[in-house]
Amino acid sequence: MYICHCNALTDTDIQQAAAQGACRPREVYDACGCTAQCGSCTRRILALLQEARIEQAAEPALVAAMD
Ligand code: FES
Repeated sequence: MYICHCNALTDTDIQQAAAQGACRPREVYDACGCTAQCGSCTRRILALLQEARIEQAAEPALVAAMD
């Protein structure tokens, strides 16, 4: 699903940038080789980054629970 229409960034692009360490929208744009244009996607990118952080934090607990 497209999140940033100006730069054709999808939720997958943002999740991949988060996995590579992006914590802010600007870092997502940098990781994807683009820059903010209209800025209307910023809130949605922030929400996806927050979701990614929660999932990354939960992964070690899930692995430990499965052992
Ligand atoms: S929709 Fe992302 S910068 Fe415009």
